[in-house]
Amino acid sequence: MNRGPGKSGESAAVFSMITRFKGSLEDLVKIVENFKQKMYDFSRLLDFLNDECKEGGDEDMHRRALPPGVKWPEHGNIEFRSCTFRYDPTNPSTEALTDLSLHVSAGVKLGVIGRRGSGKSTFVNLLLSLGDLYDGQILIDGEDIATIQRRCLRKRIGLVPQTPIIFKASIRDNVAPEMPDDDEARPSDERILAMLNDFHLGAMVTAKGGLDAVITSNDLSAGEQQLLCAVRALVTEPRVLILDEATASLDRTSADFVQQTLYEHFDGTVINIAHHMHFVADADLVLCMHNGRIEDYGTPRDLAAKPESMYAQQLAASTMSA
Ligand SMILES: Nc1ncnc2c1ncn2[C@@H]1O[C@H](COP(=O)(O)OP(=O)(O)OP(=O)(O)O)[C@@H](O)[C@H]1O
Ligand SMILES: [Mg+2]
Repeated sequence: MNRGPGKSGESAAVFSMITRFKGSLEDLVKIVENFKQKMYDFSRLLDFLNDECKEGGDEDMHRRALPPGVKWPEHGNIEFRSCTFRYDPTNPSTEALTDLSLHVSAGVKLGVIGRRGSGKSTFVNLLLSLGDLYDGQILIDGEDIATIQRRCLRKRIGLVPQTPIIFKASIRDNVAPEMPDDDEARPSDERILAMLNDFHLGAMVTAKGGLDAVITSNDLSAGEQQLLCAVRALVTEPRVLILDEATASLDRTSADFVQQTLYEHFDGTVINIAHHMHFVADADLVLCMHNGRIEDYGTPRDLAAKPESMYAQQLAASTMSA
């Protein structure tokens, strides 16, 4: 059975949500239908769901739970140490990351670029422990994430996927889904409302009738849906935020607005897989991936000054096509 990370960041988010959301079966069916329509490899999805259901089971038994109230990670330092990952550990041709070592200091905005299939989503999905490394270690604030229960890890790392996931549920439940067996207090209505205001959704919430109003994706614009997903990702106060082509489905103006709002209201570590060079121009550092390896790593300014770098080349291509 395939036991690696999903084909993209959005599958990571969906799986994480499905196993944590106390929603109705109707919602679950809709999510799966939605995926089928998007031509995702359905058998992979089912394999993955199977694996995810083991979360909290045997595999997690050997991992440490983070007690409620423990703020981990406190800073958001990320370190990949010689990480190799294979979708099928017995088959070297399924290697999607090879001997990748990288240190991202707390608070850094890291842009990630690379061709289709270069390993960008695999890289971020592994941070959520959506697969076991073939070799190496990933540390967050000095702790090997393989020792921490997956469900705890996923609660402490925010993820905004490419396709927004909106449940047919109240605005409150959409922002702060009630999780079965979750012993941590839900964010207060005041906090949820304050965050919705920060993300320019206050007027929308009032117009719909408040936090109890039931919404579906049809009730919101694409930009509003993505802003709501951003609030969901940040309401638990993570120190690490992953954006996997989070604004790719939006027009340029809405995409700029969503990214700027996210950056304005989050001072932790951001890993931003960008669908366009424009969205990594203001990153502190850029990681350029090729065939599961690091091709270049540096500040946008330094990389732009190296004409042979992938960054400089893609920048030139994107400027020409703009
Ligand atoms: N669930 C999976 N099972 C097997 N192979 C996979 C799976 N997901 C991805 N791969 C393979 O791993 C490699 C890296 O894929 P990944 O999704 O990380 O690339 P990516 O850079 O995010 O691509 P994209 O730009 O298309 O999102 C590719 O060769 C891909 O085909
Ligand atoms: Mg991807």
